[in-house]
Amino acid sequence: TSAIVAGVEESNTANSQSGGSREVTILFGSQTGNCQRLAGSLSRKLEEHGFQVTLAAMNKFKPNNLKKVENLLILASTHGEGEPPDNARSFYEFLNSKRAPQLDQLWFSVLSLGDTSYEFFCQTGKDFDRRLEELGGQRLSPRVDCDLDYDEPAGEWIEAVLNSLNARIHVSVSAAGGSTGASISQTTLEQSAYSRTNPFQAEVLANINLNGRGSDRETRHLELSLEGSNLQFEPGDCLGIYPENSPELVDSLIEAMGWKSDELVPVNKQGEERSLRDALLRHYEITVLTKPLIVQAAQLSSNEGLQALLTTGREQELKSYLNGRDLLDLVTEFAPWRGSARDFIAILRKLPARLYSIASSFKANPDEVHLTIRAVRYEAHGRERSGVCSVHCSERVEPGDSLSIYIQHNPNFKLPANPDTPIIMIGPGTGVAPFRAFLEEREELGAEGKTWLFYGDRHFVTDFLYQTDWQRMLKDGVLNRLDVAFSRDTEEKVYVQHRMLERGRELYEWLQEGAHVYICGDEKHMAHDVQSALVTILENEGGLSHDDAVAYLAEMGEQQRFQRDVY
Ligand code: 2AM
Repeated sequence: TSAIVAGVEESNTANSQSGGSREVTILFGSQTGNCQRLAGSLSRKLEEHGFQVTLAAMNKFKPNNLKKVENLLILASTHGEGEPPDNARSFYEFLNSKRAPQLDQLWFSVLSLGDTSYEFFCQTGKDFDRRLEELGGQRLSPRVDCDLDYDEPAGEWIEAVLNSLNARIHVSVSAAGGSTGASISQTTLEQSAYSRTNPFQAEVLANINLNGRGSDRETRHLELSLEGSNLQFEPGDCLGIYPENSPELVDSLIEAMGWKSDELVPVNKQGEERSLRDALLRHYEITVLTKPLIVQAAQLSSNEGLQALLTTGREQELKSYLNGRDLLDLVTEFAPWRGSARDFIAILRKLPARLYSIASSFKANPDEVHLTIRAVRYEAHGRERSGVCSVHCSERVEPGDSLSIYIQHNPNFKLPANPDTPIIMIGPGTGVAPFRAFLEEREELGAEGKTWLFYGDRHFVTDFLYQTDWQRMLKDGVLNRLDVAFSRDTEEKVYVQHRMLERGRELYEWLQEGAHVYICGDEKHMAHDVQSALVTILENEGGLSHDDAVAYLAEMGEQQRFQRDVY
């Protein structure tokens, strides 16, 4: 074998985590240049995907800077009796010494090159991997040890790392068990000048409410123009949108603090300035409270209550305080405040982009991107709250306006490579979005594979998103089966998984024919219950034991036959 993926100890990978940074440090220890070359291509690939990469030979890297690194990728070869290459030696020794810092903030992954004919095969890579874990780091993806013929396993490691970095950033998580099967030869999309760090201003072409009059929900269908951006995407990819905060919330905050709206404040590290109002609208996060924010805010508050909330033993209380509250709650509750608006701005996080699964096929609608966005509104702690991006899109964006956007590729939610492969799509609510893209794509390609959609929402009359699209696709044979579950039209609730169980026999037959299964939508309840339904179907129709059915589904995940885009 040319690759050995490190086994059991690496249970703890990043696929179920979220909230990672886009800054990645790549360090290589290379004797003959193989690791260096691989590190170079890894770096280019990550940059293509919008990551900010620091690439260095290990001896050119100041080991003390490790404490500031969040994502570390190590490529190292091994020589002689398990020795590190020359340019890795000092770093290797530092890391294995007492001087090495605790690295609890670190996410890492190691690629080792070696030669199985030596006793200490890939020892340097193994040592780095073990030591980084000892110091508190967590693995982004398992270490891969390569033999002389390293291209393919190295390519797989690069894909796995990329998936994992994306998964940490993306609200969605990858399929059960987080497979690493994606191949490096995946279609490389044409390059665009626009990315997460340099978003495109996309003109809004349409913004309509998909819910009927009288519905208790509001779901917007947005169409944006990508003309002139050179941006492209595949079905299953996501769109990042930089939203604006609610003007009411911003104005209340400014008023509560007695600030001046037109005071100039910095909006980035380069020191560019905007008016305070603009900064709070477009540049800073004001709807989420974090512990680091509270710690810093406590320095600005003369109210002892905030300090008190940070004392040891009150962690649970602090956690529950942070939950569902925003900056307006904080400044109201813990007045009086010292310091200027500038001081306050300095402790805020940047307003992050929100990701939405794309609802259209680029091939079918060139230079456009469609989205399905449900307005999030709820009450908490005595005040009406709204989802920053969804309500921005539903209340303050009209045709002719523009949105700041970028494409976020998602290799973990892709149509089968073979257009003849049947697909089963389960997407209640806005989870149906990527399936509109899947079906449009299959229609455009003239794909022959059978398609089956399970859709559900509250009421048939008002909440049947894209009903006319599905009807047309059924008529044209693009969609072969549609099963719907409207949960609030009947006494007893019916959900998509009930429909799946009713059709268990056929569903199982589709699986036997090699169908790929996709779930999109709510993770906590829906995806979990739908997965249980799949297991039940495998038990009932396939005669598998419970454990075997679970294993079967996991295996489907490994083979990318079962994929999830859940949030
Ligand atoms: P409910 O709101 O009536 O409970 C889209 O939001 C649809 O998903 C709604 O019909 C919603 O029903 C339904 N839903 C809620 N929980 C679910 C679950 N655990 N499994 C499947 N569908 C669910």
